[in-house]
Amino acid sequence: MLEFSAVRAVWFSPTGSTKTITEYVAKGLAELLGVPMKSTSYTLPGERERALASMGLSHREDSESQMQSVPQLQRVPQSALQNVPEVFAPGELVVWGTPTYAGRIPNKTLDFVREILTTRAKSEALADSVDKVVKEISTAVNSESDKSVFRNLMIPIAVYGNRSFDNCLAELGGLMKKGGHLPIAGIAMPTRHTFSKTLGAGRPNAADFEILDDFCVRIRDKILDMCVAPVAFPGEEEPEKYYVPKRLDGEPAVFLKAKPQLDREKCTGCGTCAAVCPMGSITFADSKARSGDDNTGISVDKEIQRSSEIIAHSPIFPGICIKCQACIQHCKNGALYFDDPDFLSHVAMLEANFASPLKKPELFL
Ligand SMILES: Cc1cc2nc3c(=O)[nH]c(=O)nc-3n(C[C@H](O)[C@H](O)[C@H](O)COP(=O)(O)O)c2cc1C
Ligand code: SF4
Ligand code: SF4
Repeated sequence: MLEFSAVRAVWFSPTGSTKTITEYVAKGLAELLGVPMKSTSYTLPGERERALASMGLSHREDSESQMQSVPQLQRVPQSALQNVPEVFAPGELVVWGTPTYAGRIPNKTLDFVREILTTRAKSEALADSVDKVVKEISTAVNSESDKSVFRNLMIPIAVYGNRSFDNCLAELGGLMKKGGHLPIAGIAMPTRHTFSKTLGAGRPNAADFEILDDFCVRIRDKILDMCVAPVAFPGEEEPEKYYVPKRLDGEPAVFLKAKPQLDREKCTGCGTCAAVCPMGSITFADSKARSGDDNTGISVDKEIQRSSEIIAHSPIFPGICIKCQACIQHCKNGALYFDDPDFLSHVAMLEANFASPLKKPELFL
């Protein structure tokens, strides 16, 4: 009988759908298997930093790397890792959810996902080692095992906005296999497209959750029957290209450099947008401006002072933007929006062409 110490949800989820779905599956499996559920987010820069540290890797401290998801990595000594929480542990069943961006794992998280899944890879071929992995998992649950190299049973989930998951599930499953882990089942899960208020609105819905319930039961049965061979997923495990977004007129939509715009009248300077940006790309204007003068003792016009106060309390966007929509959706005052014409045309194209039929969750077992 295969035992687990816990079921672990691991997820990147700027606007919440991936978290909801991944934790739902992990919780369902934990209940069915009678073990605790644990959860790890790698959405925020600090979370990725800690996760890498738990694997014995760390960012190099240089200003160049501040805005990158996974800048230059260096090894850190084991002694420095005493209290760093792990991403997942030996003996856990791992449910790993990622949103699909341009048909793949989001570009800016790809190096991170690869590092976490493959840093402790064993060199032997996976096909020869299924029995060994199962044995290792049981050993890990029942004793203090070697934590320097370990492999897990895993369930990849590709969440997508009703266009297509293209190569996302295959890419995630492929990285798991590369790290010596066993992807024993997977799911491609359509949900609301975060670019749109209407595309896939209301999902995941009751019917979706029923399918997820069934998925959990079928995985539990596979585990009980010891059917834990790796599963194949549609698409390319090592895709070279990303989906090219289209405008309404069918031409490529070019919005790589687009950033959120601010309606200063609506912004209260609360800071939520900066706290939720997965790229750490939102900051606030120099607080010196808040005082309205530069300590010269010369008083400034009231109107100028007011506008500099607003600027001092307003977010600015100096870093990279992955268009994840987290800042926009978390701003309670509706002060942020995209106005890039190609971006808006792409959203209109998605709403025109992918609103129906609504896709169903696809299970791979
Ligand atoms: C930059 C970007 C690219 C996306 N590309 C795709 C895509 O190729 N296919 C698709 O169906 N949905 C796509 N989506 C929609 C997301 O996969 C979907 O909204 C997902 O739920 C977002 O996850 P989250 O709510 O956990 O942030 C994209 C979303 C973003 C932000
Ligand atoms: S844009 Fe919105 S979330 Fe950001 S500081 Fe202003 S009010 Fe707060
Ligand atoms: S600035 Fe860009 S990357 Fe940051 S939260 Fe907003 S949309 Fe996402």
